[in-house]
Amino acid sequence: MSQTAQKILLSGVKPTGRPHIGNYFGAMRQFVDLASQHRTFIMIADYHALTSVHDKDTLAADTLGVALDYLAIGLDPKVATIFKQSDVPAHTELAWIFNCLTTMPYLSRAHAFKDAEAKDKEVNVGLFDYPVLMAADILLYDVDVVPVGTDQAQHVEITRDLARKFNLTFSKEAPFFKEPKAFILKEVGTVPGIDGRKMSKSYHNTIPLFADDETIKKAVMSITTDSKGVAEPKDPETDNVFALYKLFASPTELAALRERYQKGGIGYKESKELLIEKISAFVTPLRERRAQLEKDIGKVQKILAAGAEIAREVANAKIEQVRAAVGVRI
Ligand code: TRP
Repeated sequence: MSQTAQKILLSGVKPTGRPHIGNYFGAMRQFVDLASQHRTFIMIADYHALTSVHDKDTLAADTLGVALDYLAIGLDPKVATIFKQSDVPAHTELAWIFNCLTTMPYLSRAHAFKDAEAKDKEVNVGLFDYPVLMAADILLYDVDVVPVGTDQAQHVEITRDLARKFNLTFSKEAPFFKEPKAFILKEVGTVPGIDGRKMSKSYHNTIPLFADDETIKKAVMSITTDSKGVAEPKDPETDNVFALYKLFASPTELAALRERYQKGGIGYKESKELLIEKISAFVTPLRERRAQLEKDIGKVQKILAAGAEIAREVANAKIEQVRAAVGVRI
C-alpha cells in the first residue's frame, strides 16, 4: 500500500514501571504487527506520567526504558515514528484550547477520575485533565485508529466528543478534526498473573517481560494451581500454568500438554518446568537485545529525536490551523 493510502495509527504508552508479559501480549506485540499496516506513531506519554510520577530520575529512566522496550521487541523506528510527548509542545497547547471547551461536570464523569476519588486519592488538576491531553495527542495527527485496551475506551470516546465539540464551535463548514476510532486490542483470553487474576502491576502478580531466568523460575514456581496429585486428570482450561503455556507453545506442543493433563500423570511441578523453559526461550533474546541497546543510549536518543522531528512536523502544521480557527492568530 502506498504511504498516502495508509490509515494513521497512534497510541501512547505511559512510562510508569516495567512491562510484563501481559502487556506484551495485550498491547506491545500488537503494535508491532499493526505498524506494518498503518502510518504509525507510538508516543511515550511522559506528560501523562507526570500526573503520578514526581521524581525526575524515575521519570527519565522509565521514559528511556519504554523506548528500549519497544525497540527490543522489534518495533522498527523506520516503520513507526517513536517519540516523546514532551518533545512536541503542540500537545499541551491543544490541551489548553480543549480545556476551554470542556466543562468540569463532563470530566467529573470519567472513570479514571471517579476511581481516584473513590479511593480518596488526592487528584491533581493534571490527573483530572488527563483525558483532554489524550484527546490532543490523538487529534493533532488526524488519526484513524487508536489501539488501546478496554480501560482506555472511554478516553477515546472523550476524544471523539471533543473533536465534535471543536468542529461545532469553530468549524461549521467543514469538519476540522477527524473523529478517530478506538481499536480495542484483543485480550488474548486475558493473560493470567501468577495468582490467576488478570496479570497487572497493581495486583503484584506479574512476570516481567525482560526477566532473567531466576526471576522467571521464581514467578512460575509460585503460580497458583489446584491441589491435584500427579496421577489425577487435570482440567487444562481452568489451570493458570496451562493458560500461560498457551501463549508460548506451538499448537502441537499445546495439544500434547492438553492430552497429558486430561489423562493424568503430569504434576504441576513438571508443567511449570515446561512453562519456565518456554518463557525463558522466548524472553532471553529480547532481554539480550535490550541489554545491547542499553549500551548505546546515544543511539536511542537519536531515534527519539528523529521521531520528534517527524511528529512536530505533523503536529505543528495542525496546531497552526487550530490557532487560526480559534482566533489567536491575527
Ligand atoms: N492513557 C493511555 C494509557 O494509560 C496512554 C495514552 C496517552 C494514550 N495518550 C494516548 C493512548 C493517546 C492512546 C492514544 O494507556
